[in-house]
Amino acid sequence: MSFSGRVATQSAPGKLILCGEHAVVYGQPAIALPLADIRAYAQVTAGLPGSGLRLSAPDLDRTWIVVANSEDPLGELALATLHALNIRDTDLTLTVSATIPIASGMGSGAAVATAIVRALAEWAGQPLAPAEVSALVYTSEQRYHGTPSGIDNTVIAYEQPLWFVRRTTAEQQIVADIEPITIAQPFTLVIGDTGIRSATHLPVGDVRRRWQANPRYYEDLFIQVGELSRAARVALATGDLARLGPLLNANQTLLEMIGVSSPELERLIAAARAAGAIGAKLSGAGWGGVMLALTDSPDSRSAVTMALRKAGAVRVLETTVAATVAQKE
Ligand code: PMV
Repeated sequence: MSFSGRVATQSAPGKLILCGEHAVVYGQPAIALPLADIRAYAQVTAGLPGSGLRLSAPDLDRTWIVVANSEDPLGELALATLHALNIRDTDLTLTVSATIPIASGMGSGAAVATAIVRALAEWAGQPLAPAEVSALVYTSEQRYHGTPSGIDNTVIAYEQPLWFVRRTTAEQQIVADIEPITIAQPFTLVIGDTGIRSATHLPVGDVRRRWQANPRYYEDLFIQVGELSRAARVALATGDLARLGPLLNANQTLLEMIGVSSPELERLIAAARAAGAIGAKLSGAGWGGVMLALTDSPDSRSAVTMALRKAGAVRVLETTVAATVAQKE
C-alpha cells in the first residue's frame, strides 16, 4: 500500500505553571494552564521505501534519521509511538516546528513531543485519548529529565487548566490525580522571557540534592507552596483576582527560598510589580526562562509589557485565560 501524498498534521499547546512548581515534584498540588495560541506542530508524510524514519526540524536547520536506542528523545518517542500504534511501515518523515521558546518554562519539549504523538496517531487512523498521549510523552520526559512530576505532559495533552497532584501508590507506582478547575473570571497574564535558557533537570536536580541534605527545611517550604496553590484555586473559582495576585507574590518568595529564582527573573518581576501587576512570579523550573505577571486592566497590561521590555525581557507575550466551569467526572 502506498501512502504517498497523504499528510497528517497535528499541534499541541505550550503551557505555564501558574503556581506550585517544584513543590509538585514532592506531592504538593500545582495549577497549570495551556497556552492555546503558542503551539508546536508535527507533520507526517510518507518517505521513500527504505528511507527509514526521518525527523526534520527546519527551525533548527536539522534533519536526521532516527536510530533505535540512541540518545535522541524525539526519535525514541516517535519509535515508541509507532510501536504502540502497531505501525510497521516506518518509512516516514516527521517535520516539527514550534512558536514556543525553547527551555524557557513554557513546555516546548513536551508540546513538540505531544504534537508528534498526535500526528502519528492521526496518520495511523487511531486517535488516542489525552491520557494515552500524556503517558507516551511522560515516558520520554522521564528518560531525559530524571524525575519530572508529569505536569507538563498532562496539561498539554488535556489542553485545559488543571489541578495536578503527583502521588505514590502503595505499590510504589507514581500516579497523577488531575482535576479540571473552575475559572470564574477571565484573566490576562503577561509573560516576560529572561532569554536565559534553563534545562529543567538542572534546578530540579539541585533542589533534590538540597532537599536530601535538609529535608525538613524544604518540606516545610513545599507545604507552604501547596497551601498557596489551594488558596489560588479558590481565588480562581470565585473570580477573586485581587486575592490571586498576592498569592502569586508569596509563591515567588517561597521559590526564592527554595533556591530556583535568579537576579534576571527578579529584575523582571520587580519591574512588572512596579508597573502595576497585581502579582508576579517565575514560572517553571527557574534559574532562567520566563516569569508571569497578573494584570487587571488593558492599561496595566501595556504598562507591564513596556516595563518588562525596559527591564531586559527578550520576549514579552500575553495570554488570556478564559472562564471555564469544571465538569464533574
Ligand atoms: O518544564 P518546566 O521548566 O516548566 O518545569 C517543570 C516544573 C517543575 O515543577 C520544576 C518540575 C516538574 O517536573 O514538575
